[in-house]
Amino acid sequence: MQPGLGRGINFGNALDALPGGPRLPLDERYFDEVASAGFDTVRLPVRWSAHAGTTAPYTIDPAFLARVDAGVRAALDRGLNAVVNVHHYQEMSTAPDAHLPRFLALWRQIAAHYAGRFGQLSFELLNEPGGRLTASRWNTVLAQALAAVRASDPERTVVIGPAEHNDPRALPALAVPDDAHLVASFHYYAPFGFTHQGAGWVPGAEGWLGRSWGGAADEDAVRADLARAAAWGREHGLPLFVGEFGAFQAAATDSRERWTAFVRAEAEALGMSWAYWEFGTDFGAFDPARGVWREPLRRALLGGAPPAP
Ligand code: BGC
Repeated sequence: MQPGLGRGINFGNALDALPGGPRLPLDERYFDEVASAGFDTVRLPVRWSAHAGTTAPYTIDPAFLARVDAGVRAALDRGLNAVVNVHHYQEMSTAPDAHLPRFLALWRQIAAHYAGRFGQLSFELLNEPGGRLTASRWNTVLAQALAAVRASDPERTVVIGPAEHNDPRALPALAVPDDAHLVASFHYYAPFGFTHQGAGWVPGAEGWLGRSWGGAADEDAVRADLARAAAWGREHGLPLFVGEFGAFQAAATDSRERWTAFVRAEAEALGMSWAYWEFGTDFGAFDPARGVWREPLRRALLGGAPPAP
């Protein structure tokens, strides 16, 4: 097992679902599947900004908070770690000044709600900051968000990631706050033209269809990217968590399996924990319609023989 968060999977498109996008029901059985397959961690992306007041005090809808609680408990009850983030708060990247007070108010509420309980729950401050949240602006906002958490929850593990959509190449620009309970994260989708071929939300992605992955040069590129990130982590004394990595369903299965297995194995060899993007929708390692793991992806992530039925 890897240190820290170990081997994880994202329950993407559940509590973070966008209108009109794919949707994963947060079914208790899925937590059973994840635990019995051998994962250690569930990352629960949460779109708090769609479920909170738009004027001060920006109160989170209690019914929505109860849904998040149910997800956290479902993970923790099965011995899994949970990571809860702020996901798809796009306005933080397009209008950070206007949204900062609300963003900080969300973290004050979330932290106060979980303070003093659920030690296996970690917080991740913001998924993929980008746009106007430049590296330097993000460094300030991140420190403010961490302070908002620390006001009520001094020892919670907090996951921080770099600007530029958590690109590992932006790690050197990340200012790491002085705090004893941090994990650094980045997202790995390189080469993007392979992992996002055919992805409807990415302009030009239709033109990438048919790209394969797996030659020596492909492997060298991944190895170099991850080694650079690992060196940064060592320099800062921070554990690293690859909070998202995955290839969209339009890519050929053999290449997806090769890429997923390679990234996973390299990350583990470098002592990183990870969470595959994602469990059961358009990158899905699990097929909810048939109620089974997609064996090539399960094997790429966890190795070994398939679990007995
Ligand atoms: C986004 C998803 C997207 C995935 C891969 C995630 O951070 O929330 O909508 O499918 O990244 O691009």
